[in-house]
Amino acid sequence: MGIRKAVMPVAGHGTRVLPATKSIPKELLPVVDRPALQYVVDEALEAGIEHIVFVTGRGKGAIEDYFDEAFELEAALAAKTSKADILAEVQRTKLPAGAASFTRQQAPLGLGHAVWCAKDIVGDEPFAVLLPDVIVRAKPSCLAQMVEAYENTGGNIVAVDPVPEEKISSYGVITPESRDGRLIRMSGMVEKPPREEAPSNLKITGRYILQPEIFDLLEEQGKGAGGEIQLTDSMVTLMESQSFHAYEFDGEEFDCGSKAGYFEAVVAHALQNPETADEAKAILARYAAGT
Ligand code: G1P
Repeated sequence: MGIRKAVMPVAGHGTRVLPATKSIPKELLPVVDRPALQYVVDEALEAGIEHIVFVTGRGKGAIEDYFDEAFELEAALAAKTSKADILAEVQRTKLPAGAASFTRQQAPLGLGHAVWCAKDIVGDEPFAVLLPDVIVRAKPSCLAQMVEAYENTGGNIVAVDPVPEEKISSYGVITPESRDGRLIRMSGMVEKPPREEAPSNLKITGRYILQPEIFDLLEEQGKGAGGEIQLTDSMVTLMESQSFHAYEFDGEEFDCGSKAGYFEAVVAHALQNPETADEAKAILARYAAGT
């Protein structure tokens, strides 16, 4: 069966970018002219995803509103012919009727628990997980690359990319065995290992294709790194009975959960956007020259 559904955990408080996220979900912070989350939703849609399950929490209601019809705004824009382009952009953000579900993670028990909260909505079929802190700029989209690989491998796939040694202990890390192009056979994974125990420099990027059997494992999963229920720990158990690959995607990644990563995402997208590219380049050059 193809990958039709994607889970996006959006319950986190965004403590690394407070106070910006005190009253705005961190996923809705703008990267140039659209929220970070829009880039991740676009990535999923490009990969053929038909239904997105948002795992939300208290104070995240603005995410539901963002993907909904905005009747008054659209009517106001429609009344002015000069706003036709903006109206089209606003209308593009609407997810089709029935194509999104929202369920709440009531307590911050970890990524594994957040994914488990989507169990009933996903049901008995393979699905994708995209962590919206991470924006991946890639053509085709990162998840689209993974879906293509999945058509040959089946089973489970995690996206990976190399990370500098000093940052490795902030991530899930794989133990690679052999490679076939971008596809990597692996023998293990570990969540947030101490630097000297990391099995490689390949970190899990926040994009997954998983079989539904993961849900029963998550239900039984005890706490792991950081005292949280970790998705990585249940994936390690699933590896005992199912095929698991890592996929080193072709693209560029921005971790918008951190101040510097968010800044980099804004700069990179401003330099790419035809509306802002020239001015952004000039501004950066000016600051780089210290004038
Ligand atoms: C999560 C995952 C980790 C992965 C990371 C990617 O960690 O648990 O395996 O490497 O996302 O961003 P978190 O950033 O939620 O601590």
